[in-house]
Amino acid sequence: MPVPLIVHAAGGEGPWRIDRIDPVIGASLPWAPRLAVTGGDAGGSGPGAAWVLRSFTSNTRYTERAELDALTARQEGLGRPAATRAALIPIRKTAAWWALAQDERRAVFEAQSRHIAIGLDYLPAVARRLHHCRDLGEPFDFLTWFEYAPEESDRFEELVARLRATPEWDYIDREVDIRLTWD
Ligand code: HEM
Repeated sequence: MPVPLIVHAAGGEGPWRIDRIDPVIGASLPWAPRLAVTGGDAGGSGPGAAWVLRSFTSNTRYTERAELDALTARQEGLGRPAATRAALIPIRKTAAWWALAQDERRAVFEAQSRHIAIGLDYLPAVARRLHHCRDLGEPFDFLTWFEYAPEESDRFEELVARLRATPEWDYIDREVDIRLTWD
């Protein structure tokens, strides 16, 4: 059974209006006015697509039981009517990151960077989904997706600023920040 692919296609169509595309680390992505998110079988990449990113969801790698329970107790799902703002943040990690052992990566991710502890401060206002794409040979390793209400925009900026200041981000060599509005 092949892994079901999720396709993020930027172009002239799609329910999400692209408000801005900012390069945070490394090269940006080309401008387009709209974003469509579809299952791979539905196509999603019209002939005029500015860019297409393919990914899949997977099991967790680093989350421990107590963290999983805390996340599950607080998090809300995607598609909430009030959450009309979204962020698509594609990220690539360095060769040095991928050369680490699993326990070393976990140490950077949580013991040093407090990624989950920081993230929990922003639940349930922010809903999220992590997509993997490294194993597909895509230009990014992860596509991170977040949805929040307009009045939570400042808090979301605070969240990304806190995470970008952590040691985990020393292992990121490409990051693009794409902000969207559902209209
Ligand atoms: C991974 C939580 C915000 C980027 C993870 C994981 C958790 C998590 C639990 C680990 C999944 C696993 O065990 O495999 C959260 C929470 C957030 C948040 C609760 C608050 C809403 C963010 C933001 C970004 C981000 C704002 C980007 C700017 C990533 C990346 C990974 C990840 C790239 C994959 C790391 C890797 O596997 O090397 N997040 N996160 N997260 N998160 Fe977050």
